[in-house]
Amino acid sequence: MKILVTGGLGFIGSHTTVELQNKGYEVVIIDDLSNSTEKVLDGIVAITGKKPVFEKLDLKEKSKVEDFFKRHQDIAGVIHFAASKAVGESVEKPLLYYENNIGTLVYLLKELSKKQRSSFIFSSSCTVYGQADKMPITEDAPVKAAESPYGNTKQIGEEIIQETCKVTPGINAIALRYFNPMGAHPSAEIGELPIGVPQNLVPFITQTGAGIREQISVFGGDYPTEDGTCIRDYIHVVDLAKAHVVALERLLNAKNEENYEVFNVGTGKGSSVLEAIQSFERVSGKKLNYKIVGRRPGDIMTAYADTTKANEVLGWKAESTLDEAMKSAWLWEQKIRK
Ligand SMILES: NC(=O)c1ccc[n+]([C@@H]2O[C@H](COP(=O)([O-])OP(=O)(O)OC[C@H]3O[C@@H](n4cnc5c(N)ncnc54)[C@H](O)[C@@H]3O)[C@@H](O)[C@H]2O)c1
Repeated sequence: MKILVTGGLGFIGSHTTVELQNKGYEVVIIDDLSNSTEKVLDGIVAITGKKPVFEKLDLKEKSKVEDFFKRHQDIAGVIHFAASKAVGESVEKPLLYYENNIGTLVYLLKELSKKQRSSFIFSSSCTVYGQADKMPITEDAPVKAAESPYGNTKQIGEEIIQETCKVTPGINAIALRYFNPMGAHPSAEIGELPIGVPQNLVPFITQTGAGIREQISVFGGDYPTEDGTCIRDYIHVVDLAKAHVVALERLLNAKNEENYEVFNVGTGKGSSVLEAIQSFERVSGKKLNYKIVGRRPGDIMTAYADTTKANEVLGWKAESTLDEAMKSAWLWEQKIRK
C-alpha cells in the first residue's frame, strides 16, 4: 500500500517513514527541504534497507500538489507532517505560518476530497490545550486561545479537518496531539536536526553536553511544582512514529468510529526540567552546566497527557522511558558532531 508522508525528511516524518517501511508500506515522501536535507534518506536506507520515493516539492504550490495526486492515484493514506514549527518565528512572521501550515493543509484536503475514500493523519499538538485546568489532560479538555500564530495553525488546522470531514464522508481523519517529542532512532542513523539555537529543551541539553552551548538556562525555578521547574510529557520519537502507523491502520481498516477523531500521544508521565537534566547526566555520565533563571513569558507550567484513549482505542502505548529516550538523543548528538 502506498502512503504519502509529507515532511517525511523531517524529525518525526523520517522516524515514521522507517516504521511504515518496517511494516511493508511503500512510502512516498514530499518535502521541500526547508527544514531538512536529502541526506536523511541515507539514514532511512541504513535502517530499513529500502529507499522511499522522494519528491522535492513545495506544498504551497497548489498546481504541483494537484499534479502529484494525478501522478499517484493509488495513494491509500496521507500522513501530513509538513509545516513550519518555530513558535518564536511564527510571532514575527504570522503570514508565513498561516500560508505554510494552513494553505498546504487545504490543498491536500481538496485532493483527498476527490477520492472515494481516503485516510489522513494530522500532526497536532498539546499546545491546543494551553495551560489545562486538570492533569493529566484528556482529549475533551477545552481548547484554549492560542499563544502564538504557530499554535493557532494547529487549532485552525483541526477545525478545518473536522468541518471538511463533516461534509465529506469519504475522508477519514485522525488528529494526533503530540506532547513533547524527543530522542532519535536507537541506531543513531536519523534524529532531530535543529537549525541554529534549539527551540526545545532536549536538543539544548545535548548540545550543552557536547560543549556547543556553554550553559543551559532553566526558565523558572519557583513554579508550584515539586522541584519548582516546568513539567512536560516527553515522548520518544520512535514511540510517536509507531502511534502514526497504528492510527493510519485504524483508518485504512475502517475501524474508526467517526470520520474525524482526536488522540493524545504522550507517555502519561510528567517530568520536570531538572528531571530531564538529571536523566541526561545519568545516561551520559556528564555533569551539565545549568542555571536557574527567571520565568519565560508564555511558558505553561505543567502539561502531561491522559493516554487512556490512545491506549484503549488505538491499542498503542509509549514503551520507552525518559532515560532511554535521552540516551538515544545523546547518541545522535555525538554522531552528528563527528
Ligand atoms: N517536534 C515537535 O516538538 C512537535 C510537537 C507537536 C507537533 N509537531 C508537528 O509535527 C510536524 C512535524 O514536526 P517535526 O518536528 O518533524 O518538524 P520538522 O521541521 O523536522 O519536519 C517538517 C518537514 O516538513 C518540511 N516542510 C515544511 N514546509 C513544507 C512545504 N511547504 N512543502 C514540503 N515540505 C515542507 C520541512 O522541510 C521538514 O522536513 C509539524 O507539523 C509540527 O508542527 C511537532
